[in-house]
Amino acid sequence: MNLIFLGAPGAGKGTQAEIVCEKLGIPALSTGNMLREAVKNATPTGLAAKEYMDRGDLVPDDIVIGILKDRIAKPDAKNGFILDGFPRTVAQAEALDKMGVSIDKVIEIYVPDDVICGRLSGRRVCESCGASYHVDHKPTKSEGVCDSCGGKVVQRVDDKPETVLSRLATYHEKTAPLKDYYQAKGKLKTVVGQDSIADTAKLTLEAIEG
Ligand code: AP5
Repeated sequence: MNLIFLGAPGAGKGTQAEIVCEKLGIPALSTGNMLREAVKNATPTGLAAKEYMDRGDLVPDDIVIGILKDRIAKPDAKNGFILDGFPRTVAQAEALDKMGVSIDKVIEIYVPDDVICGRLSGRRVCESCGASYHVDHKPTKSEGVCDSCGGKVVQRVDDKPETVLSRLATYHEKTAPLKDYYQAKGKLKTVVGQDSIADTAKLTLEAIEG
């Protein structure tokens, strides 16, 4: 099963991808996580991407397409995957088609912008493994400490309110047109994100299986 999770920043793509991955036994490939890792390790890709990410802009297509192409070729993605945060422009979707990757379903997780702003202000992530938490909806067992690896849990630089607004604007301008792109191919299913992570997971799994 090759899936794409589409949705605004903070809609819950990463949270749902983690749940669905475990259920289906396929990896989640998050371009956001790959880019953050590259920034942390100060690789040439990371150095090129950092200024765009800090501003809440998209990283140029050629950079992102390159890292996704390398990641999708790895053996663990052979039997299926969830793309979380890719494609984000029509050019990226076309590049995926050119790679010969066939997509079974595109799951859009829809959450209104005002709800998103609240979610991202409460999000915390592990500096070491990237695990995602929320101060109210998904708190860590011990404050500031990752449940999975014991790493330090912090707020993401791009979750500052002004950067979130810029990311939302970018989403509506550049990524939302992908809904029409995949609707025209008969692949789009929309899940309305619920207040509870478990309720959203139920709807997401129904959309994948239905
Ligand atoms: P990326 O990391 O992909 O960020 P994003 O798309 O902005 O998505 P997020 O990770 O912010 O949100 P999410 O939808 O995964 O939500 P989450 O599950 O964490 O990208 C970062 C940057 O990298 C981009 O801005 C760009 O610069 C660059 N980039 C990445 N890919 C690119 C590409 N393809 N092209 C160009 N540039 C690219 O949930 C959010 C919070 O809400 C969490 O705290 C969670 O616990 C909580 N939550 C989740 N679901 C629920 C629920 N149902 N109820 C209550 N709380 C919930």
